[in-house]
Amino acid sequence: TPDQRVADYRAQLPSHLTPSRRPRRLRTTEAMRSLVRETTLRPADLVLPMFVREGIDAPVPITSMPGVVQHTEDSLLEAARKAADRGVGGLILFGVPATKDAVGSAASDPDSFVNRAIKRLRAEIGDDLVIMADLCLDEFTDHGHCGVLDSRGTVDNDATLVRYREIAIAQARAGVHMIGPSGMMDGQIAAIRDALDAEGFEDVSIFAYSAKYASAFYGPFREAVDSSLEGDRRTYQQDPANGREARQEVELDLDEGADLVMVKPGMPYLDVLRDVAESSPVPVGTYQISGEYAMIEAAAANGWIDRDRAIMESLLGFKRAGASMILTYWSSEVAGWIQDGLPEHLRPFV
Ligand code: PBG
Repeated sequence: TPDQRVADYRAQLPSHLTPSRRPRRLRTTEAMRSLVRETTLRPADLVLPMFVREGIDAPVPITSMPGVVQHTEDSLLEAARKAADRGVGGLILFGVPATKDAVGSAASDPDSFVNRAIKRLRAEIGDDLVIMADLCLDEFTDHGHCGVLDSRGTVDNDATLVRYREIAIAQARAGVHMIGPSGMMDGQIAAIRDALDAEGFEDVSIFAYSAKYASAFYGPFREAVDSSLEGDRRTYQQDPANGREARQEVELDLDEGADLVMVKPGMPYLDVLRDVAESSPVPVGTYQISGEYAMIEAAAANGWIDRDRAIMESLLGFKRAGASMILTYWSSEVAGWIQDGLPEHLRPFV
């Protein structure tokens, strides 16, 4: 019998190896595990990245991100309303223009589709969650880079800062609560803060994508924003081999007036996240990016992992590492799970 087998094995354990310290005691029941659980996940910790595309009459699925779409203005509002009702903390908007040009004109045009969408979001759900906008040029430029190019094809840092200032003002006028500059130009936080303050937008906050790495995991995002980028962003985003310079990037952004700082991507950079979380005097966020989303969805679609548990475990990992805010494409779905009362198999993760 099993008990006989256990007794036989126990009899063979040398007595000096009988443990006197037993961490398993605190794992015996769900009530016990729940009592000692250090980290929890709330819907308000989550920020939903959303795409709005110009010139479509129905949402367009993003093949490499199953479940994520490029929205029309109306479907955007509907999905945002749903996220707000589930208690999601915020949303961050990305625009996908019908026509792109060298300087990404649509980004700073107050009448463009993306700034109109911000205006409606603020008016219709802006009391219920935080409305954020990604501030960058890559979605809007025909070359797909995050800044203005010179004739050699180099992204010019200081010329780009002027474009960022123009975009910030347009987004603030449209009604964003928070601006997320993601282009990794030097001095971008100071340049944007100054532009906002000069126009009377002292209350619009800046969450800085401070430590942002040149990552292969951005792959599906290129499809999401119809990017035509050739080459890579290694002259402005950080080298994945470097942890130390993340501290400098954060320090500079704080000096320049960042209200929150972020580490991006998430899962391959948990060490950086932990490091930043330990020293930052302002709240720290992370972005579980498109490739991280695609990996879990693809493995789950093949039956190789338990999708829902893998999602919860990945999010809890960010909280454990010190993030207080997580940008994830699963925000609305996960908030719905929590709101409905988590099923038994997910409970260990909250
Ligand atoms: C730049 C930006 C990118 C992402 C967010 N903001 C693309 C990049 O830097 O290459 C990626 C987000 C994701 O992959 O989910 N505007």
